[in-house]
Amino acid sequence: MSDELEGKVAFITGAARGQGRAHAVKLASMGADIVAVDIAGPVADFLPYPAATPDDLVETVRLVEELDRRILGVEADVRDRDALKGAADRAVAELGSLDIVVANAGICEPAKWQDISQQSWQDTIDINLTGVWNTITATAQHLIDGGRGGAIVITSSYAGKKVQPMMIHYTASKHALVGLTRGFAIELGPHNIRVNSVHPGAVATPMGGGDTVDQIEASTRENPKVNQMGQAFLEPGWMEPEAIANAVAFLVSPASATITSEHLSVDQGMQYF
Ligand SMILES: NC(=O)c1ccc[n+]([C@@H]2O[C@H](COP(=O)([O-])OP(=O)(O)OC[C@H]3O[C@@H](n4cnc5c(N)ncnc54)[C@H](O)[C@@H]3O)[C@@H](O)[C@H]2O)c1
Repeated sequence: MSDELEGKVAFITGAARGQGRAHAVKLASMGADIVAVDIAGPVADFLPYPAATPDDLVETVRLVEELDRRILGVEADVRDRDALKGAADRAVAELGSLDIVVANAGICEPAKWQDISQQSWQDTIDINLTGVWNTITATAQHLIDGGRGGAIVITSSYAGKKVQPMMIHYTASKHALVGLTRGFAIELGPHNIRVNSVHPGAVATPMGGGDTVDQIEASTRENPKVNQMGQAFLEPGWMEPEAIANAVAFLVSPASATITSEHLSVDQGMQYF
């Protein structure tokens, strides 16, 4: 526990479980109050892993309250900008400010290009890219109005720097987030609002559960040499969500006060293999 983020409010999407929940708990442990946004329900039937549930979001709320921090749990879809705007307005009214945004919600479908449906392409772009645009445009004015700077972290991926084989839609959406990070960093810089991206490697979250691994194996069967890509230098080659939360904590803390428009890999070296 520390008090580095005492008096700050952090708006986190995809916070019902996985990395988003880890970010909520980590930032709360540093003193921040939290707005935890998640669809908390089915997103798309082409996804090979189970959807988050309202109970998952309730558990995030419980974990943050256990740390004696305030939290608003909000069921909202990042494709719905008005809902995000409503959550941001409510956060300022009830918690006093908005200082930190972590645009983390995302989906991932392993598939060969011929098997990516038009719906899957559209949903992946709408959630992973436009959802981040919605999250920042719904919140940034509150950070500006607060007049004390702020920090925004965008969750991209290893697939936003290199390529995730057999996930062209996912890879395209995560690469686009690099441009989004740079653009917002320029325009929000005069307000001392920093904008950076994190690029996780393999993280043990429900996204990798269900049939995801089988679907990755099936999609690379005709071209197995791509499985040699993205090997981690470190053991065991995958990470707990808290590893990414530590990087997010750094990027929103005073320790990174001069860092903006940076793209921080937390991938055990995967991007270089
Ligand atoms: N797990 C990995 O190996 C990995 C690696 C690199 C990057 N990422 C990225 O990290 C982020 C977090 O993923 P995770 O691993 O915690 O997966 P996860 O599936 O456990 O969590 C994602 C959360 O986002 C929510 N979400 C999905 N679509 C939403 C929408 N339209 N509106 C609101 N909420 C929505 C889900 O309900 C879920 O709670 C994603 O952007 C993902 O692409 C994951």
